[in-house]
Amino acid sequence: MSDISILGIESSCDETAAAVVRNGREVLSNVISSQIAIHTEYGGVVPEIASRKHLEKIDEVIKTALTEADCTFHDIDAIAVTYGPGLVGALLVGVAEAKALAWALNKPLIGVHHIEGHVSANYIENKDLEPPFACLIVSGGHTHLVVVKDYGEFEIVGRSRDDAAGEAFDKVARAVGLGYPGGPKIDQAAKSGDPKAIRFPRGEVAGSPYDFSFSGIKSAVLNYINSAHMKEEPINVPDLCASFQESVTDSLVSRSIRLCQERGFTKLAIAGGVASNSHIRARMEEECLKNHIRFYRPSPILCTDNAAMIGTAGYYEFIKGKRDGLDLNAKPNLKLGER
Ligand code: KG4
Ligand code: ZN
Repeated sequence: MSDISILGIESSCDETAAAVVRNGREVLSNVISSQIAIHTEYGGVVPEIASRKHLEKIDEVIKTALTEADCTFHDIDAIAVTYGPGLVGALLVGVAEAKALAWALNKPLIGVHHIEGHVSANYIENKDLEPPFACLIVSGGHTHLVVVKDYGEFEIVGRSRDDAAGEAFDKVARAVGLGYPGGPKIDQAAKSGDPKAIRFPRGEVAGSPYDFSFSGIKSAVLNYINSAHMKEEPINVPDLCASFQESVTDSLVSRSIRLCQERGFTKLAIAGGVASNSHIRARMEEECLKNHIRFYRPSPILCTDNAAMIGTAGYYEFIKGKRDGLDLNAKPNLKLGER
């Protein structure tokens, strides 16, 4: 079979990204233009600003991705683009761009599920990884424990009943004054803290051993902060961050390992922005080792939003025959497993 090169495009939140991926697993380029510096001023992503910035950057990002991959539009076999879930205005920029390119170049168009993209990031650096395997998806909007039955096919085993893991990181970071983006700041602050300093709840959901609940953990942290303020006691930020992170980590690790044990999986992957957390990665690796489970995790740059993962997911959809028409629309609330 001849080589297949996919141009991946991602614009669902605050990164404008484009990549060229060959045969699903070989990343020829992976260009990411981050808007973090702009949104930091506002303490979070401002959707209207995100869309405008995507518009300003997208042409340049695609051009750079082609140049770095040493190819032209004519070497591209198909265009894969994130069409949901995400911010509608942000998604629309990528979708409109991909549709225009597909029409002008007469190339196939493939709409990719953003979360399927995150899971697919695991294939890039692990050439041997193939479904089935267990996967924990932890991003800013999603917390799902799934079985990846085949490329792009998931059985959802557990999910968060309230906030996503990333959301909890972002809210706690804001509450202790670390600002946006919260996850990396808590990760950093926690390095000098004691994870046993404060005992926060582990977010159990009665009767649903695979489900998660992070709003209880978040509320416990907020209560702790409020009560310290009332008593005019200082807060040890590194200890608080380490203790919060430990509680989220316990919750994620225990359910993931339980799934592997109960269903006999010997391969566990993690995906999404929160999967770049150094403590979660270390603890997951430790527990996998103890339980004879092979642990897969993308490099941090492939955990957070990027287009290489969209190119990879797009490749597997392409060889399965998925094609979208020029009526492809952005779907901000697209569910996992939904098309
Ligand atoms: O997957 P992602 O880049 O975007 C979404 O699809 O949502 O995930 C973003 C989330 C944010 O909540 C961010 O705070 C979190 O991932 N995150 C982290 C770390 N890096 C990013 N959370 C914990 N530790 C990190 N090192
Ligand atoms: Zn994402």
